[in-house]
Amino acid sequence: MNHRTIYEAIGGFETIDRLVTAFYKRVSKHPKLIPIFPEDLTETARKQRLFLTQFFGGPSLFTEERGHPMMRRRHLPFEITPSRKDAWLECMEAALEEAKIEEPYKTVMFEKLTMTANHMMNTPEP
Ligand code: HEM
Repeated sequence: MNHRTIYEAIGGFETIDRLVTAFYKRVSKHPKLIPIFPEDLTETARKQRLFLTQFFGGPSLFTEERGHPMMRRRHLPFEITPSRKDAWLECMEAALEEAKIEEPYKTVMFEKLTMTANHMMNTPEP
């Protein structure tokens, strides 16, 4: 039996770091996402490393620093339309490739992220 978490199986924080770097590189260039993200993504990426570590079964770094995740609530200040949700997932899918996350983890991670992204939509398409 394999009881490892996804976090451990993919290589821990080093891999999360590669994924997040690859992800925000794309977010910073995506025309649908630029308008709602800050210009300097350093702090956003730092929080995302804490969150994804926890999300994939690693230590609860996000909660230790920021409290209960409440992801939907934290996203309410931003207009997340269906097409922005798709753009976010597009960047994430390419980042999972670039970070060389192998199957079956890549698919499992993308499915979990897709469910959360769907939950984050809060604005109809204009
Ligand atoms: C923060 C957009 C989905 C995790 C943010 C911010 C924006 C944003 C604009 C604020 C950035 C900042 O001011 O630093 C979006 C969009 C999504 C999406 C358009 C499309 C569905 C997700 C998903 C997750 C996530 C699926 C997690 C799996 C986070 C985290 C933060 C954040 C951890 C930092 C929260 C904090 O501590 O303040 N997101 N997001 N986001 N997002 Fe998303």
